[in-house]
Amino acid sequence: MVESVTVKAPCSTANLGPGFDVFGLALDAYYDQIQLKKEGNGIRIQSFDSIPVEPEKNSAGLVIKEMAKKFKIKTGLVLKIKKGVPTGFGMGSSAASAAAAAVAFNALFKLKLDGNSLVQYAGMGELASAGSVHYDNVAASVLGGFVIVRTNPLDVIKVVPPKDLILCVAIPKIPVPQKKTEVARKVLPKQVKLSDHVKNLSNASTLTAGFMKKDTILIGNSIKDIIVEPARKHLIPGFDKVKKNALSAGAMGVTISGAGPSVISFASTSTNPKKISDAMKRGFAMVGVECTTVICKPSKGATVI
Ligand code: HSE
Repeated sequence: MVESVTVKAPCSTANLGPGFDVFGLALDAYYDQIQLKKEGNGIRIQSFDSIPVEPEKNSAGLVIKEMAKKFKIKTGLVLKIKKGVPTGFGMGSSAASAAAAAVAFNALFKLKLDGNSLVQYAGMGELASAGSVHYDNVAASVLGGFVIVRTNPLDVIKVVPPKDLILCVAIPKIPVPQKKTEVARKVLPKQVKLSDHVKNLSNASTLTAGFMKKDTILIGNSIKDIIVEPARKHLIPGFDKVKKNALSAGAMGVTISGAGPSVISFASTSTNPKKISDAMKRGFAMVGVECTTVICKPSKGATVI
């Protein structure tokens, strides 16, 4: 009888410009690892990282708690969490843990849940960190590749990205508020102009077509958001400079990664990703901010290892 499973789940970028709360892309930059073990009583979290260990306050813990309740699992569970994804920087850190937890629970209790159900359970974890449920990051971490999320009813569509797509991420070393995603959602407009909606919708549509057709240029030049990015960019010191520099260095599209403050450039094997990363680093340096840069490719989803 299987007593324990270990799952590794990738980080992700959400929104990809015009697809706020709808698009996600798994990235092979950082991974969270979770071991779920049948042991003792209740649900316990163990970690050497500085994360909340109360199950209700931890995105993975919340998922396990909800799944145990739903499937009437009475056995005690220990959750060992190893964080690899930086927390609070728009890289889908809470989602990676939540995705790993849902996939681990499914494997440990041989539930054979489909992708949509796994995403639904993993999404509950976002309540612990973002204060609201949104599925873009968890869908990417569970399924891998590029994902489109339609809610009510939840429907997650995965598209395998083109092989030549490369992402350059700049993660600024700035303090981020405790409930960063909640803060970054509060600055968003409650209503938008119809003409702005049309522009974003057209870019979201061409971006989707770009992934379907494996057309990296179409993907890159569809990374345009005139609704969320303008409302949030003041939260990222130097954003305009980072973006301008990356575009001058050959990036095809540049935007905020998820709720930020990381900035992501879309590039391809026919651009110079190192030059783009360096340009982004110089952009942040112009406002006295250091950053970590990572050049990566899309990742596959959460896997039992
Ligand atoms: N779509 C979400 C947002 C992602 O931008 O608020 C947060 O990680």
